[in-house]
Parts: sequence; C-alpha cells; structure tokens
Amino acid sequence: SIPIFTTVASYREWRRKAYAEKKSVGFVPTMGALHEGHLSLVRRSLAENDLTVMSIFVNPAQFAPHEDLASYPRTLERDLELLAEQKVASKQPSAVFLPNVHEMYPSGINQDVNQQRGTFVEVKGYGEQMEGKSRPTFFRGVATVVTKLFNAIEPTNAYFGQKDIQQALLLRHMVTDLLLSHPSPNNLHIVPTIRDTSDDLALSSRNAYLSPAGRKVAPILYASLRTAEGCWAAGGSKLDCINAATKIIQRRIEQANEEGLDVEMKLDYLEMNDAGDFEVIEGDVTRSSKGDAAVILSGALWVDQTRLIDNILLGSV
Ligand code: PAJ
Repeated sequence: SIPIFTTVASYREWRRKAYAEKKSVGFVPTMGALHEGHLSLVRRSLAENDLTVMSIFVNPAQFAPHEDLASYPRTLERDLELLAEQKVASKQPSAVFLPNVHEMYPSGINQDVNQQRGTFVEVKGYGEQMEGKSRPTFFRGVATVVTKLFNAIEPTNAYFGQKDIQQALLLRHMVTDLLLSHPSPNNLHIVPTIRDTSDDLALSSRNAYLSPAGRKVAPILYASLRTAEGCWAAGGSKLDCINAATKIIQRRIEQANEEGLDVEMKLDYLEMNDAGDFEVIEGDVTRSSKGDAAVILSGALWVDQTRLIDNILLGSV
C-alpha cells in the first residue's frame, strides 16, 4: 500500500531521497472525498513525473465560519483505495501527505479572519471577483494552505482542475509573485473538468450533499453556461449571452415547481471576466471586440443548501 506521511519532517526524508535519485515529483493537493476529477489529476501527474504525491487535508482557513467545514465529506479509506487503483505506464502514486491541523497551522487556526494569528498569504486583485465576491476569505485560505503545501512537498509539477479555474489562475499569480520554484509558475498545470457522462454535471465532492431532486436539476448550471458560450460564439454581446443563460436557469426553476420537484434553486452569479485580470466584461463587448484575450464564463448556483460552481473558458489560458 501507499506510504502515508502525517508530518512534514517524515515526508522530507522521503523527499530527500527523491532529490538524491533525481526523480521528479508531481503533486495533487486535495481535500479528499475523491472522485474521477481528482483521479484525472493523479493520472496526469503519473504520466508526467517519476513520483506522484497527493495531499488530503480539509483546510479550515478556506471555510468561512458559516460554511460546511464540519459536514464536508470525509471518506479516507475509500480515498486510499481509489488512489491505490491508479496506474499509468506501470507508475502508481508514491505517497500520501495527510497532515493534521496543527501540522499545517502551528500557530493554530481560527476560521474567523479577525481572530487569526500567524502567517497568511493574500493574492490581491485576483481573489475578490467571481468566487471571491461570494466567499471573501476563501482565496486567502487557499493561497495560505497551498503555499504551506508547496513548501512542505517541494513538487516539481503541481496539478489543479479547471473546475476551480479562479483558484488555479490565482495560484499561478501567487507562485510568480512569491518567486516560488517548487513548483515554478510554468509547472502549475490546469487539467480539464471531468463531468458525469450521463448529464455533464461537473464532478464535485459537494455533489454528495444533493438530494435526488437536487441532483436532477443540478446540470442546469452547465447547460446555462453552454447557452452563453453558444451565444458568444455567434457574436452576441456579453449582456445578451448572460441574460440568455440566466433565462435557462429561471425556466428550470419554474419547470421544477410544475413537476413538483422538492428542491430550491437560487442563482448566485453568472458572469464573464477577463481571464488575465479577472475584470468583469462590459455588457456591450462581443467576441470580436474582445479579440484573442481569453474570457472566463463562470457561475454559481445554490441547489438547496449546496453551492455548485462551474465554468467554461472562452479562448485558452
Ligand atoms: P478539492 O476541492 O478537493 O479539489 C482538489 C483538486 O481537484 C482541485 O485542483 C480541483 O480543481 C480539482 N477538481 C475538483 N473537481 C474536479 C473535476 N470535476 N474535474 C477536474 N478537476 C477537479 O480545490 C481544493 O480541493 C482545495 O482548494 C485545495 C487546492 C486542495 C486547497 O485546500
């Protein structure tokens, strides 16, 4: 079975050996409750590195006090089984980093930012839009824990999902700004979103919260994004495309009522932002007036108490 390291010190011994043997280390940070999305990152890392390390750590700092830290799904045994099943060109995962909260936060951690002491990483200008607008302390928690993980793991390459596109791009800015070399900015890779093959719902650990009725309506978020994508490709303005997508959601809400589905949906946001500076695209902008610059088309939808997110990249990052 795969070696599990619960302390930075014990991991570092293993890491020293990898350095001595000149082996590259691919790193996949997660919060566990693994699904095919996480595993696709693992397989990409296996293909591109001698050794692959996954971390599993439910990071308190990225959950606001009112959010779902306590109920976040924890399925460690199953996670380790799934991980052990992964194989690419006879390579398998080499190590799991499984720290406790004290190991990651030696000064302790309070979810209330006003009660915190210790060292935190803030990536200004990239964490306030989109997800950051609804979750103002989220990216501070992510940037902080990923900095710590990078310092502990010292990966040659690191793998993140497009599912959380703002997270991946913000972390690229972070490794650039902080002059990190493990990984270097070019070695922070973004892997396409894995979806349910039957209805294209983006896989997410939080999908486990959905009721049957919630699971039935959840794919409408991506369907609405696809509508906006088609509108944009056809030359529509941002305003027209976002309005068209919003209407798709509204119609699904009405339809769910008519069908008598026991589910409550509420659109949090649907927006287009420049993929470079994350600024909101003006309403009258079209694909041709935007030129080659990539755009993030993203949204968040509440399905009962579950907040689902998804995105489509218009252009490449
Ligand atoms: P978590 O939500 O567990 O996700 C771990 C990684 O899996 C992230 O890079 C995420 O984008 C990727 N991922 C999730 N669903 C995916 C899907 N359907 N397809 C492809 N990739 C997917 O993101 C986090 O954890 C945390 O914020 C973390 C980076 C570990 C810091 O705590």
